[in-house]
Amino acid sequence: MNAKRVLIAYGSKAGATAGIAEEIGRTLRDDGFDAVVLPADTVTDVSGYDGVVLGGALYAGHWTGKARRCARRNA
Ligand SMILES: Cc1cc2nc3c(=O)[nH]c(=O)nc-3n(C[C@H](O)[C@H](O)[C@H](O)COP(=O)(O)O)c2cc1C
Repeated sequence: MNAKRVLIAYGSKAGATAGIAEEIGRTLRDDGFDAVVLPADTVTDVSGYDGVVLGGALYAGHWTGKARRCARRNA
């Protein structure tokens, strides 16, 4: 059986969220998933994935624009 393909997309300014996303990707790969980690602003098509994890840092109570726009673009 083919491994489930999962995208972990992240919106990060200073790098912390990117590090968390990489760790999620490593953990999912260890669990047998085909996990891909990408910056949210580069994601234009999620149709090739069985699942998507989208994370973003909070600044002044708001999700980073990179994550917000990724969610809107790929809804
Ligand atoms: C100017 C500034 C504003 C922030 N505002 C919030 C906030 O409103 N809520 C929150 O939970 N964290 C807030 N944080 C903390 C960041 O979300 C946190 O440091 C996060 O890990 C940054 O992620 P990044 O390194 O991926 O950009 C703020 C940090 C900074 C520097």
